[in-house]
Amino acid sequence: MNRTESLRIGLLTGGGDCPGLNAVIRAVTRTAIAQGNASVVGIEDGFDGLYDGRMRLLNDREVDGLLKEGGTILGTSNKGDPWQFPVAGSDGSVRIEDVSRRMLQRLQEARLDALVVVGGDGTMKIAHRLALLGVPIVGVPKTIDNDLQATDVSFGYDTAVGVVSDAIDKLRTTASSHHRVMLVEVMGRTAGWIALGGGLAGGADTILIPELGFRWESLLHHLQHRATQGQRYSIVCVAEGTPLPQGDVVLQSNETRPAETRLFGGIAAELARQIQLRSPLDARAVVLGHLQRGGSPSAADRLLATRFGVQAARAVLARRFGVMVALRGQAIVEVALEQVAQGARQVPADHDWINTARAVGVHLGGGLEPS
Ligand code: F6P
Repeated sequence: MNRTESLRIGLLTGGGDCPGLNAVIRAVTRTAIAQGNASVVGIEDGFDGLYDGRMRLLNDREVDGLLKEGGTILGTSNKGDPWQFPVAGSDGSVRIEDVSRRMLQRLQEARLDALVVVGGDGTMKIAHRLALLGVPIVGVPKTIDNDLQATDVSFGYDTAVGVVSDAIDKLRTTASSHHRVMLVEVMGRTAGWIALGGGLAGGADTILIPELGFRWESLLHHLQHRATQGQRYSIVCVAEGTPLPQGDVVLQSNETRPAETRLFGGIAAELARQIQLRSPLDARAVVLGHLQRGGSPSAADRLLATRFGVQAARAVLARRFGVMVALRGQAIVEVALEQVAQGARQVPADHDWINTARAVGVHLGGGLEPS
């Protein structure tokens, strides 16, 4: 196509949902329609919908009012890796196949000139591989975990931190009434951003994150010391991927997936059990789970998602492909997709928030301190 023809931009959301996806859909659609001679085709359920040809034209009316809606109107899937795609046979069996070439065909059949994919690390890795096959593609980073490389923050994170902070506010009254240790398990996979941000904002007494680990003696000593000092309750905010001192992470029962997609869950219950076994303290566990991904995005996430969506559309209209939009300081920039596909971004041990937590007396598990 030449530069005067109208562009058909495919737009999909992949991986786990998070607040702000609809704000991106709105921003991409509005920018493309208003600023360029372009149309946006929404693809349903991530790469699954591309494979099946499930897509529809998005217009101004459809995206009107979307800014405040959680989830994604397009639907999503975390099973649509084109190189390991589950293909259903006529006999009901499911085979895992490389359908990447067929995906390229589908793009042509749908007359899509470019693809905008909104997703986390898995989706960005797929985007990078598709870019290497010549697909004109732009990525938009989302994840409540905030663990994507190459962007300071991803949208969804601020909303999740708000959920954690609100939950801690509520748990404080019941923990205080019963003089209990309340353990709040939060998401984040192998990164402690949600626990650290949410724990600090909510005023947790102890924050445990995968990057720092913890020691039983140190944790129990801290909790019992608080009790003897008259602080008769404690709130522990623990990231789901925090390993036990012996080195194992706690996974959901019957978990059998490969390492990068395994489902964490149960660390708070294990901590509560052990605290009751090893000390006179009473302890209860709460898992915030998918509440952290639900509901309306915070104002900060609406703003970031809108800025990302606008920049992604601008990149496509200017034919800059193979990039992901990102936040660096206060600026929205574009980074090469290959920079993103390098594993999870964890909290650095010398991060300012860790020093801040220490300064206000938050116990961080004693994992990195000498015994
Ligand atoms: O990556 C986002 C996330 O919410 C993680 O924090 C969590 O471990 C995982 O997804 C849960 O995945 P699922 O939605 O498949 O249960």
